[in-house]
Amino acid sequence: MAMVALLFVITGVHAQTKPNVMILATGGTIAGTGATSTTTVGYTAATVGVQQLIAAVPELAKVANVKGEQVFQIASESMTNEHWLTLGKRVNALLAQSDVDGIVITHGTDTMEETAYFLDLVVKSRKPVVLVGAMRPSTALSADGPLNLYNAVIVAGSREAVGKGVLVALNDQIHSARDVTKTNTSTPDSFKTPELGLLGYLQGGKAFFYRASTRKHTFESEFDISNIATLPQVDIVYGYANMNPVALDAFIAAGAKGIIHAGVGDGSLAARVKPALIAARKKGTLIVRASRVGQGILARNGEANDDELDFVAADTLSPQKARILLMLALTKTSNTADIQRMFYTY
Ligand code: SIN
Repeated sequence: MAMVALLFVITGVHAQTKPNVMILATGGTIAGTGATSTTTVGYTAATVGVQQLIAAVPELAKVANVKGEQVFQIASESMTNEHWLTLGKRVNALLAQSDVDGIVITHGTDTMEETAYFLDLVVKSRKPVVLVGAMRPSTALSADGPLNLYNAVIVAGSREAVGKGVLVALNDQIHSARDVTKTNTSTPDSFKTPELGLLGYLQGGKAFFYRASTRKHTFESEFDISNIATLPQVDIVYGYANMNPVALDAFIAAGAKGIIHAGVGDGSLAARVKPALIAARKKGTLIVRASRVGQGILARNGEANDDELDFVAADTLSPQKARILLMLALTKTSNTADIQRMFYTY
């Protein structure tokens, strides 16, 4: 060993050290199994364990020192606030260790963008955290999970990903947690960042970045879950023609501390629903206007006078991500102006 070290000193050659990447498995289709190799819908998610996922990709050992931990084994539609708190605390504990360089989280694709954004707001580290999944189960012909996992480990171990916030890597593409969304029920190219654009690509076993999110995240975030056991109840009411206030009233009666109004267009308020929203705000529930459209800025004081109604505008956040930011905001304040500032910051 000493001879090898001496040789390095003499020759100036240093051994290329591999990064230490922890894989935290939570379930999803990447860990799913189907009845036959052509079963790509109607399979069972979350059946294969993390050690089996790692063993299926021996190439991982060439690019990183990989360890696995099974955190949950669920389909991601069953992800809850409690799962997020457990996961966020585990990620923070691991990233505080000097022998962990990055984390990959295997996850179902259905709510991956939500878990990613939650972590983007609560992880206290510059080290890379990369969420990955698959659109086809592990038993399918052309399963996308193994290559997606290999690529995610490369991103998590790369210097280029440091300080970029929580990332989502699938289908040879790298996205920011804040802006990525699932856009197709079943095809492998489902994950996109419409209009704002993806951050980079994976090619030939290397991550290439071309842009970064301008919004604050991870090490710059003001949110801290280390002493939090539950998150405030925030629910989403969906806008549509002939909308009625029944769902909104039920959420308020069930104790919602905040409501995301996923309105039509630029977050317009239906005549039959607006009075219930105003009444809810007067009783203390925070109201955030978002849009069901999926792209564009929700204009503050546009389709509603937010100043007068004491509402918050969601900016470009989707309703499901606005829900996450509002929950975390409510752990710190119930001041509308301060919460609006957070929506323009993260
Ligand atoms: C899930 O989200 O757990 C099921 C669907 C998927 O992973 O693609």
